Amino acid sequence: MGRILVTGAVGQIGSELVPALRERYGSDRVVASDIRVEPPDGPPSRGPFEHVDCTHIREIDHAVRRHDVDTIYHLAALLSAVAETKPRVAWEVNMGGLYRVLEVARAHGCAVFLPSSIGAFGPSTPALHTPQDTIQRPTTMYGVTKVSSELLCDYYHLKFGLDTRGLRLPGLISHVAPPGGGTTDYAVEIFYQAVRYRHYSCFLRRDTALDMMYMPDAIRAMIELMEADAARLVHRNAFNLAAMSVTPERLADEIRRHLPDFVIDYAVDPARQAIADSWPDSVDDTAAREEWGWKPRYDLAAMTTEMLQVLGSRLRPVHH
Ligand SMILES: NC(=O)c1ccc[n+]([C@@H]2O[C@H](COP(=O)([O-])OP(=O)(O)OC[C@H]3O[C@@H](n4cnc5c(N)ncnc54)[C@H](O)[C@@H]3O)[C@@H](O)[C@H]2O)c1
Repeated sequence: MGRILVTGAVGQIGSELVPALRERYGSDRVVASDIRVEPPDGPPSRGPFEHVDCTHIREIDHAVRRHDVDTIYHLAALLSAVAETKPRVAWEVNMGGLYRVLEVARAHGCAVFLPSSIGAFGPSTPALHTPQDTIQRPTTMYGVTKVSSELLCDYYHLKFGLDTRGLRLPGLISHVAPPGGGTTDYAVEIFYQAVRYRHYSCFLRRDTALDMMYMPDAIRAMIELMEADAARLVHRNAFNLAAMSVTPERLADEIRRHLPDFVIDYAVDPARQAIADSWPDSVDDTAAREEWGWKPRYDLAAMTTEMLQVLGSRLRPVHH
């Protein structure tokens, strides 16, 4: 068995995916890479790290050759809110990066995992129980790159037989690395602010429903999909994935069950609200359940309990 390369490994997902992969397959078999250096306190599991800018094919190729890589988890990308402010860079990183990763994968016969997003849908997509195969006309640069990425991954599978697989991830809630500028970041910030200040000012409207997932479920989904029997996969790029559909108001209510004096107010950011309004309220993940046995473990209550427990033991409340 060859090694695994993770691009964009210092981000919100990579910070938890890399330790999980190292735990499962062995530290030296998982090569983390990013354009940022690893944070000084580092991930809990040590192992190889490479500087890889995904817009430079030589850097990807070098890492793949040097470490005898046979699987690439390609996480490097600009997230939705950032991509809206830097559309040209978003196209170059999200599409240019993926294209180069796929070309290197083709040359060396690597399997590729690509995280797509609920952002691959748009205002004309059915918002409730969004089907696996449906209208995808996103109105954000992020969404345009995600649909194109899904298609490009399918193309490399059909045309060159590359083992490409992907998930349309919902907003991810986690407590290890901060989120990188997405529309669902509020669902992470709210926990930090609740523990520290008992107060959060939310940038989305109170009734904005979006799919969310607790990071441990997302990490497990990525690994399970990559380990799934290829013969069972009808869809590849990319599977709808759901765990909970959440509004800011509902999340605040759940937090208040633990911290009764928590207060939320709303200072809506029109840019991020517009992105959220163009995305589904809740997707249907039947295909993932049927084709590779996907099942979430954390609902809103279980996720909230664990987030508050972990952050409560780490952060000091600020009294005012
Ligand atoms: N976090 C979520 O809620 C979420 C939801 C759906 C999909 N996704 C997707 O998952 C992937 C990872 O997301 P994340 O939340 O960890 O993002 P993040 O912003 O936290 O991390 C992305 C990482 O990519 C790196 N990067 C940027 N440009 C690069 C380049 N040219 N070459 C190499 N690395 C580069 C950044 O330094 C960063 O560490 C992205 O494709 C994102 O679209 C994330």
